[in-house]
Amino acid sequence: MMVTMRPRVRPAGGEFRATLRRSLHLFNEFRYEQPDPARFYTALAEDSAAQVASYTELDGRLVLDVGGGPGYFRRAFQARGARYLALDADAGELAGAGEIEEGTVLGSGMELPFRDGCIDVCYSSNVLEHVPDPWRMADEMLRVVRPGGLVFLSYTVWFGPWGGHETAPWHYLGGMRARRRYRRRHGHEPKNRFGESLFPVTVRDGLAWARRQRLVDGVDVVDLAPRYHPRWARWVLRVPVLREVVTWNLVIVLRRR
Ligand SMILES: C[S@@+](CC[C@H](N)C(=O)[O-])C[C@H]1O[C@@H](n2cnc3c(N)ncnc32)[C@H](O)[C@@H]1O
Repeated sequence: MMVTMRPRVRPAGGEFRATLRRSLHLFNEFRYEQPDPARFYTALAEDSAAQVASYTELDGRLVLDVGGGPGYFRRAFQARGARYLALDADAGELAGAGEIEEGTVLGSGMELPFRDGCIDVCYSSNVLEHVPDPWRMADEMLRVVRPGGLVFLSYTVWFGPWGGHETAPWHYLGGMRARRRYRRRHGHEPKNRFGESLFPVTVRDGLAWARRQRLVDGVDVVDLAPRYHPRWARWVLRVPVLREVVTWNLVIVLRRR
């Protein structure tokens, strides 16, 4: 149904390394998010697909990207041979980089329109903080993954420097206050409206959710990591309070046995 063309396939695994150099490269690309979104999101998508490929084979696998947005992630996953489906709640976001492509589903991550266990890799990047019931969405991602399949979930942490998105760093004084300030200064609402399309999701919540899954029969926690940091900086996740501020973005990787 969805993927008609099979682009050149890049090998799985091997090449992803969370080095300081990779972190610096991503932070440098981040400067282009507003002036040149295609550049930034292409870099992020390629990095993400490489990271996912370090946990699982992608060639021929069915990947569901929850909150996929425009097609940057599609191209990165397809370049690794994955059969890619994007689900998003907003048709405008899906059309952001041009036409809405085949293999796209309009729906909510909190109620995935897929049966249990039919997806090889359920992936989501920077979406959890935009849904009112984030851990319901996480549960849904786990539900649709087949035995042996992978959940890769990554979100922007509320108390991180970018937690308030375009209202940062004023979110440190409260989400509503930051939203009101933005409205006063810009004469319009921010794109990410606290309490409506932006919610405070913490590292603590993510680790607690992952820990709960460990107790569920048949689910292994494969990895917990600050997404953009070098591997040696993972220790921050063990330090309450500090981890909320410096993690930026938490990655949770689970595998169904
Ligand atoms: C910040 S964008 C992230 C896009 C892409 N995943 C990335 O990492 O760049 C957040 C996306 O989540 C989508 N979204 C918001 N609420 C959603 C929901 N309940 N279900 C599915 N997608 C949702 C938005 O429409 C938007 O495309």
